[in-house]
Amino acid sequence: MQKKVIFIVLFPVALLFAFLSCSNKQPKNNGMNDRKWWKEAVVYQIYPRSFKDSDGDGIGDLRGIISKLDYIKSLGVDVVWLNPVFESPNADNGYDISNYRGIMKEFGTMADFDLLLQEMHKRGLKILLDLVVNHSSDEHEWFKQSRSSRTNPFRDYYHWWPAEKGKPAFRPGAFEADGSGWRFDTLTNAWYLHYFNFKQPDLNWENPKVRKEVFDMMKFWLDKGVDGFRMDVIPFISKDVTFPVITDKELKEKYQGDWSKYMGNGPFLHQYLHEMNVEVLSKYDCMSVAEGAGTTVEQALDFVDADRNELNMLYHFDGVSYGYLPGKFKTPDPKGYELAGFKEIYSTWDSVFAVKGWGTIYLGNHDQPRMVTRWGNDTPQFRELSSKMLTTFLLTMRATPYYYFGDELGMSNIKFENIDDYKDIESISMYQMTRNNGGDLNEFLEAQKISARDNGRTPFQWDTSNNAGFTTGNPWLKVNPDYMKVNVASEENNPNSVLNYFKKLVKYRKSELTLVYGKYTLLDKDNPDVYAYTRDFEGKKLLVLLNFKAQNATASISNIDLSKAKLIVNNYNDESTATLTLRPYEAKIYELN
Ligand code: NOJ
Repeated sequence: MQKKVIFIVLFPVALLFAFLSCSNKQPKNNGMNDRKWWKEAVVYQIYPRSFKDSDGDGIGDLRGIISKLDYIKSLGVDVVWLNPVFESPNADNGYDISNYRGIMKEFGTMADFDLLLQEMHKRGLKILLDLVVNHSSDEHEWFKQSRSSRTNPFRDYYHWWPAEKGKPAFRPGAFEADGSGWRFDTLTNAWYLHYFNFKQPDLNWENPKVRKEVFDMMKFWLDKGVDGFRMDVIPFISKDVTFPVITDKELKEKYQGDWSKYMGNGPFLHQYLHEMNVEVLSKYDCMSVAEGAGTTVEQALDFVDADRNELNMLYHFDGVSYGYLPGKFKTPDPKGYELAGFKEIYSTWDSVFAVKGWGTIYLGNHDQPRMVTRWGNDTPQFRELSSKMLTTFLLTMRATPYYYFGDELGMSNIKFENIDDYKDIESISMYQMTRNNGGDLNEFLEAQKISARDNGRTPFQWDTSNNAGFTTGNPWLKVNPDYMKVNVASEENNPNSVLNYFKKLVKYRKSELTLVYGKYTLLDKDNPDVYAYTRDFEGKKLLVLLNFKAQNATASISNIDLSKAKLIVNNYNDESTATLTLRPYEAKIYELN
């Protein structure tokens, strides 16, 4: 009797639930994942040092960013990722932190940061901070203590190798002229590990106290209201602390000759990330994105499969590492890059997240040259067209776009002639290494014109006033002389500008869930000139056609009828009849049904 009553009461409720869940048109990532704000977001990355200087010292700062929040809002983006803003002696422009809870003095104060956060949230913008916890600065109090004696309580915050054990096995130090990741410290007669410069000692994550410090620090920022973290070289945090010898043979066979594939694959990596999720991330509505250094297609889901409770997203290096000559430091192939290989990389990475997890897409960031120089064509004839074409690519893939400031203006590489113009520790240390090894310095400098990180770090170009309106002082890095043409003020007034095209595409992506969640299908895969794909979602189909070359090119797609296609976007802005033949660097998006 009682059972019958329960059934009569609960049955209509169950029916209602069943109806609601069937009629719930929530997009799924291939039927598996729910909607999330960070999947639908467009992330805009700012290099604070180069965005806007408010006090005339030649260095961008937080007050400068605050003064330009309306510009950022006008772009239509949702999330702003700031490169590190914490106290730092700036050996590597903030990627060497001496106090994780303080603001770099050149950038301002904690009060400025609080105001920035408040003003961003007021405008509906989210903020992503850079979490740099594989290493700290050697000027961090922890390291000062750690190096002071072998018995100091902070000794185990870092990786030390006592001299009596002999010389430690080789590990690379990315920003060192001799390439070594160990530094000998006479004070305690021991080496310490630094995967980057000697001023960036690696933290010892095997020590639970270190993990607790990091998690508490993350909570400090999340409690303030920040919306998430981009995690610097996070796959490097776990190490085999016996530091075994890695033979050349092993490196070649097991890690494809790439040290980062060894460094990014530590024994407790996923245990630590899971712990971070349980202790911190799961307690906030925040987003997390790993800089996936050394991460392969096969390993990617271990970071971002939601069922594993680690991170949300990861960005890979396969795309940006493509087109360089093997065995030569960031030296582009003089023949250029092959589009078929480029398509294969991005299609493979799309397939990684087809069922689970979620991807990212980017062509530029503070570690890369300007996207138009590297992947498009920065000559006066094609700079704008090819910038728009690349923007179309970034905003129409199934992945969260990370768009680098200045690319929305079509900023290009500055191409310094002289090593003295470079400020980046990477260029300077690699120059020294080339010189010490008797290498060809001219060849090195030529390659740097395309690949150096400083190309992407030159000051943002606001207008035609002195120093492009970036500073009234002496800019820390030279301003690109093309600022008289390439700048916000001129582009805002030109409906056909790269800037207005970017805004249009962002708006379109934000209004069209097909671009976020729709299935991606590569078409005409061997075409050496055209990148063509469709995006399908809930009965809607979009066709994206991109000509990556400076000549006309035609997509060979037999099964698509363009007669009823509706042109949504065209970077030439003048098409009258639908066609599969594209003009140089032409980009088009059609709605097919
Ligand atoms: C990756 C960062 O993106 C880069 O700028 C930095 O030099 C290294 N990690 C070291 O922190």
